[in-house]
Amino acid sequence: ALKLVTIGGGSSYTPELIEGYIKRQAQLPIKEIWLVDVEAGLEKLNIVGAMAKRMVKTAGLDWEVHLTLDRRTALKDADFVSTQFRVGLLPARIKDERIPNYYGMIGQETNGAGGIFKAFRTVPVILDIVKDMQELCPDAWLINFTNPSGMITEAIKTYGHWDKVIGLCNVPVMAMSSEPELIHKTLDELTYKFAGLDHFHWHRVWDNTGQEVTMQIVDKLFGDEDAGLPTNIFDVPFFKDQLENMRMIPCGYHRYYYRQEEMLAHGLAEYRDNATRAQQVTKIETELFELYKDPNLDYKPKQLAERGGAHYSDAACEAMASIYQDKKTHMVVSTLNQGAVPDLPSDHVFEVSAQIGAAGAVPMAFGHFQPAERGWLQLMKNMELVIVEAAATGNYGLALQAFTMNPLIPAGATAKRVLDEMLVAHRNYLPQF
Ligand code: NAD
Ligand code: G6P
Ligand code: MN
Repeated sequence: ALKLVTIGGGSSYTPELIEGYIKRQAQLPIKEIWLVDVEAGLEKLNIVGAMAKRMVKTAGLDWEVHLTLDRRTALKDADFVSTQFRVGLLPARIKDERIPNYYGMIGQETNGAGGIFKAFRTVPVILDIVKDMQELCPDAWLINFTNPSGMITEAIKTYGHWDKVIGLCNVPVMAMSSEPELIHKTLDELTYKFAGLDHFHWHRVWDNTGQEVTMQIVDKLFGDEDAGLPTNIFDVPFFKDQLENMRMIPCGYHRYYYRQEEMLAHGLAEYRDNATRAQQVTKIETELFELYKDPNLDYKPKQLAERGGAHYSDAACEAMASIYQDKKTHMVVSTLNQGAVPDLPSDHVFEVSAQIGAAGAVPMAFGHFQPAERGWLQLMKNMELVIVEAAATGNYGLALQAFTMNPLIPAGATAKRVLDEMLVAHRNYLPQF
């Protein structure tokens, strides 16, 4: 019988996770679910935890649901640990977005200066968690969706020396669930292949006769810009000429790079209206927790779909079931490249199509990239390595190097000022600096 632990259990996404477990009750012989949080999240944990208990009860299951602030007790003898925490909660995200915006830069929680600082805050915590796991549940699998998911997975592997980890994101899931119908197909009739980095990957698609249909999908995407786009990303269309040259489908987050000017303008307008995404999410979250308080609510409310991360907990449950049942399912995960993309180092983390089974993730070969995408990936991956090392060591010069490399941060005195200001703003969560 399985003991499942979720760190950041007070998340508004927890009902989706519980729904995912209930759906897979025949595949996952669950005994205990432990939802772990910190003092600052205690109220959220209690509300959403009570809701989780109701869902399990309504489903007629005898699973124990434990709510705790004691991470070590929770981790003892765990089989699967999933991580969905936000260090500093939404007030920290508001700073991640608004401080760069104030200086005229993109403010986004996984890209630009905000993404760098989310990594800086998260890496010390995840390395602590891994240290606990080494002692308390050395055989457990770690399923990480804490953002920036790819960089956090890299930190777990490279600095935590923990190999049994899979990093997840819902963006590929959303592409695969929305695109097939655009070309009147079902997902079963298509073969998808993804490669790149978390929030910076591309994909190609083939039909069951082996014919590539990527560009057919691209054509349809141009009538329906937001197909598969998470709700948190503004839908500036890509340049069609660029995609015709690329012959791949970029992920939603590529907009921040390919249409930086327009994404910045949109972000700054939201900033002036006091409506950055973090501020919008604060409202949505308050509404969701009001719903969760209802003692009669025992199913995931439809309003959760307003969150950009909808479906990601379901992917987490599927990863656990695939490992446990050795299902060899196709999933897109952050894992070691191992030659899937020969242009890139084999011993670092990329987001690639993989088979998920008892051995974890086995990446599928994607092949070479053309110079444009290869160049982007080399810059972005090396920037990730600089960020993760700066986060693990607290080296200020390296943090400045990361800011200088980031394509969304114009290098210079203003960039250094943003770095310095964010170090002060987040100092309670940056013990390493
Ligand atoms: P949230 O702000 O609700 O945070 C979740 C919980 O984490 C909170 O209850 C908080 O108190 C708790 N927490 C904070 N620090 C903690 C710590 N040190 N230990 C344990 N718990 C702690 O955030 P959310 O909107 O639910 O998102 C959670 C995380 O998941 C974020 O990092 C977010 O970026 C990420 N996310 C990832 C994806 C994906 O595609 N990979 C999708 C959605 C969200
Ligand atoms: C996206 C991403 C997540 C991200 C989230 C933001 O789809 O894949 O990694 O954290 O949605 O959503 P939010 O509702 O928090 O802005
Ligand atoms: Mn994501």
